Amino acid sequence: MSVVEATVESIAAAARTLREGGLVAFPTETVYGLGGDATNERAVAAIFEAKNRPQFNPLISHVPDAATARAFVRWNDTAEKLASTLWPGPLTLVLPRSEGSPIALLATAGLDTVAIRAPSHPIAQALMRATGRPIAAPSANRSGEVSPTRPEHVAQSLGARAPMILDGGPCLVGVESTVLDLSGDMPILLRPGGATREAIEAAIGPIALSDAIPTGDAARKSPGQLHSHYAPSRPVRLEATSVSRDEGLLAFGDTVPTGAMLTMNLSPSGNLGEAAANLFAMMRALDRPGIGRIAVMPVPHTGLGLAINDRLRRAAADDDSNRQR
Ligand code: TXA
Ligand code: MG
Repeated sequence: MSVVEATVESIAAAARTLREGGLVAFPTETVYGLGGDATNERAVAAIFEAKNRPQFNPLISHVPDAATARAFVRWNDTAEKLASTLWPGPLTLVLPRSEGSPIALLATAGLDTVAIRAPSHPIAQALMRATGRPIAAPSANRSGEVSPTRPEHVAQSLGARAPMILDGGPCLVGVESTVLDLSGDMPILLRPGGATREAIEAAIGPIALSDAIPTGDAARKSPGQLHSHYAPSRPVRLEATSVSRDEGLLAFGDTVPTGAMLTMNLSPSGNLGEAAANLFAMMRALDRPGIGRIAVMPVPHTGLGLAINDRLRRAAADDDSNRQR
């Protein structure tokens, strides 16, 4: 495994690896992805294997722009409105698979829909354009761990399973993309993420929220949305307004209780964008020997706060039967 500087040459080499069916870890504005050619069943199978995902939870296919997306999904007016305002960016659209779509069946886990997104990160853009194929990419971590927002997180988590990691430094958004289902009559928010509900509704009007933690049919529709997807190995306690000595505190804002073994502040000034960008790196940093539990202060539930609170609730859900590895 090696972290390589992203240059014209290394990106060309990465594109060659992808076209030959190999895997490459690369930065997006949300989190690092473990990419493979989305049209190659064996490459997609290798992604599941590298992540150790026991179930075939469908993957997002990444494309440079809306014009490219149209080749793989049945595009519609709502998708067009969203893409023209929020793409490239942290928004994934779930649309019906188009007739003859070359996206690997394994990438969509047999569903008749495809999740597609155009990331804005310049290295991701350059890689997609050099590859000339849609790139299937889940977050570049072993299943059950928090998503990587720095190249060293990818190296720590995947080791030799990520043969090449393109270095883009820290991810600016820091939480995964928003997943919006446009395959039915009403747009449904399947996963809150980097594109806020407010920004989406400004473009297309009201959207429906799926259950925060769905069960039954809803869970089958978005199989990644199980309870404990973003789990540190220590227990997580939410809504903390005081702390004990054996706890690591994930703070927010300028009024921070004292007495924790270690405190990290998502955003001393209370800025949700800064908090999202710091979230996973700070959860990793607090998930360390000597700390018995991670206590988390309340985070406002607006804008990026929806995505932050969603990830925190999943991290706190210690229901092993639902643990998505
Ligand atoms: O920001 C992101 O979205 C990152 C970067 C690398 O792009 N990727 C990412 O992928 O978070 P992953 O595999 O961790 O999450 C993909 C989510 C899962 O919740 C999955 O269930 C959902 O998208 N999904 C994928 N295809 C779907 C489909 N056809 N229908 C409904 N949900 C789908
Ligand atoms: Mg993931």
